[in-house]
Amino acid sequence: MRDRHVVVFSGAGISAESGLNTFRGPGGLWEGEPVSLVATPEGWRKDPERVLRFYNERRKAVRAATPNLAQVALGELEQIFKVTIITQNIDDLHERGGSTNVIHLHGEIMKSRSSRDPTTLFACEGDIVLGQKADDGSQMRPHVVWFGESVPMMDTAIAVAKTADFLIVVGTSLEVYPAASLVDYVPYEATRFLVDPMPSGLTDEDFHIVEAKASEGVPRIANQLRALMA
Ligand code: APR
Repeated sequence: MRDRHVVVFSGAGISAESGLNTFRGPGGLWEGEPVSLVATPEGWRKDPERVLRFYNERRKAVRAATPNLAQVALGELEQIFKVTIITQNIDDLHERGGSTNVIHLHGEIMKSRSSRDPTTLFACEGDIVLGQKADDGSQMRPHVVWFGESVPMMDTAIAVAKTADFLIVVGTSLEVYPAASLVDYVPYEATRFLVDPMPSGLTDEDFHIVEAKASEGVPRIANQLRALMA
């Protein structure tokens, strides 16, 4: 059955039970920090040290986090299906949960790059500090897509979405574009699932809505898919 393709579109909610804050909603990350100051090129130009500190703190939290049952269930699903994870998350919990085919639309916090060249990436486990320069002389920055910057992996993600037999949307408010438009590229005949304790933004005639946390809803869907293929 490895010819059947499960495409997963995930957001911050799938990492919530691993202790990583979501963005919107109670206690969301954007409540603590104004987006404009820590996640835009303007904020970077204005106060790069504040931006570096924000992502250094998030990188520490990601290193301390462990994959939850949702990420592990998706990793295990690769035993039966072709699985592609398209995530808006910058953490590496999908990879650490066992997924081997992950597209990060908004970058990866465990990687860094120069401020000029977005294509040469470096592993980054620790802090990035002001004054840490790349070979091209520019300040090193986190490999994260800020608001207003292009989403270089979007075309790749769209091509993947077009080949989905199953779509699992999990842990995203679907408020940020172009990422959220991905659900529109999935073939009409694909079976769609949505996992969210507070689902919003999608009409349920298109989706099997699983009103649950990721660590409960995703394993449930994975078992349903296994049963389909038994
Ligand atoms: N399990 C599943 N879903 C959850 C859980 C959970 N335990 N807890 C919260 N959620 C859901 C929320 O109900 C919400 O729908 O996860 C979603 C989180 O939405 P956002 O905080 O908006 O995160 P996301 O959709 O990933 O944001 C998209 O916005 O700020 C930018 O670049 C950032 O990639 C991010 C993008």
